[in-house]
Amino acid sequence: MSKRLDVLIFGATGYTGQYVVEEMARKAKQFRFKWGVAGRTANKLKQSLEEASNVTGIENLASNIDMIIANVTNQQSLVDMCGHTKVLLNCVGPYRHYGEPVVQACLQARTHYIDICGEPQFLETIQLQYDGQAKENEIAIVGSCGFDSLVADLGVEMIRQECETNNIDIALIESFFVINYSTPSVSRGVIHFATWESAVYGLSQAYRLQSIRRKLFPQKLPYANYKMKSKSFTKTTVNGKSFWTIPFIGSDKSVVQRSQYFNYTVLNKKPIRFLPYFQLSSFTAVVKVIFYGLIFSLFTKFKLGMRLLLQFPRFFSAGLVTTEGPTRHDCEQASFKMTFVTHTENKQKLIHEFAGMDPGYIGTSKLSIACAIMLLQESDRLPTKGGVFTPATAFGRTSLMKFLETEGFSFTKK
Ligand SMILES: NC(=O)c1ccc[n+]([C@@H]2O[C@H](COP(=O)([O-])OP(=O)(O)OC[C@H]3O[C@@H](n4cnc5c(N)ncnc54)[C@H](OP(=O)(O)O)[C@@H]3O)[C@@H](O)[C@H]2O)c1
Repeated sequence: MSKRLDVLIFGATGYTGQYVVEEMARKAKQFRFKWGVAGRTANKLKQSLEEASNVTGIENLASNIDMIIANVTNQQSLVDMCGHTKVLLNCVGPYRHYGEPVVQACLQARTHYIDICGEPQFLETIQLQYDGQAKENEIAIVGSCGFDSLVADLGVEMIRQECETNNIDIALIESFFVINYSTPSVSRGVIHFATWESAVYGLSQAYRLQSIRRKLFPQKLPYANYKMKSKSFTKTTVNGKSFWTIPFIGSDKSVVQRSQYFNYTVLNKKPIRFLPYFQLSSFTAVVKVIFYGLIFSLFTKFKLGMRLLLQFPRFFSAGLVTTEGPTRHDCEQASFKMTFVTHTENKQKLIHEFAGMDPGYIGTSKLSIACAIMLLQESDRLPTKGGVFTPATAFGRTSLMKFLETEGFSFTKK
């Protein structure tokens, strides 16, 4: 095990992989980690490292950093790749297409696994199928360690721990997420195509989730009696600020629910109901989201519709999704805020805020590398030696939040 690298980034040549490589280069210098990059084309890996040298100012990465060739279509290459490292950070997506063989290879090579997946079906299937084997092999498989869905999951866990310490009984938590772009226009959109592709396939197959969940959650959770109706397209006021809300359809709810199930069934903690929302500034924005959302949802129902969505992402997303991905400048100008409103059993409200830089790419690279660091330095704080975990169940007892606060994120009580 000792001859292994500390972290290997698979999918280092991708749009997001590039940001992850750059962040890894910075952190490796700070923590003296041994690290490497992996992908299916040597030339592209070299380019990625050269670009990382240009951006970070760390010289000669292309000649100093290990490059490993592996292809998802060749299982032995994946097992060999995993055998080179203690932690594999997998940036090859959509995960529904490419993820499972990589998880299998990690289990075979006894390598910890982290990904930045935001696809509930993949994340839940992996837990259902591989949790037992991961426990047996004492290997941690931790999905969704990017913005989706670490921020929501860790935020809820931090609030749960704070309330537990102060004997406050939580009924439910709502989250309101907003991204700010300080540039007047985002010429290359704000989302890279692979995330759109994951969403198109995800929605088209959403009907499969029910049967997975029946197996994954055999026990009914004793949530609080206090309930709230989901807010769809309504105006809300939090801390004196009014905005429009729509339900957030990413993986946050699925991931937080898995954490709550674990908390209840393994740790005997009361589960928390979670309602995530997207925050919009104007009624015009709401109308636009409804319009494009309806088309998106309708088109994922038939093959030609899916083909059109995948071929013309910019058109069907009002310019938000592009195959080139957002410019570095636009990413650097972006920031996010996730406001958590906690409703207690005695009808009080607590407000917390998780904030940081561009969530999609700069933020995701920092979050996923931080998780890799936790696996390397604080694996003794995992709830069990191995298993398939959510970010909160894996890292809730580590110093992850404190570490993120040194990295430009903040988590504050309002
Ligand atoms: N959680 C979050 O908040 C978050 C944020 C950002 C991205 N993501 C997710 O991260 C994933 C990657 O996104 P992206 O924008 O970086 O996508 P991308 O630019 O298309 O990158 C895909 C990567 O996968 C590699 N790849 C594809 N097929 C492969 C194969 N058969 N064998 C080995 N490698 C293969 C590509 O290698 P080549 O260069 O050789 O083609 C590339 O490195 C997506 O699933 C996206 O949804 C999540």
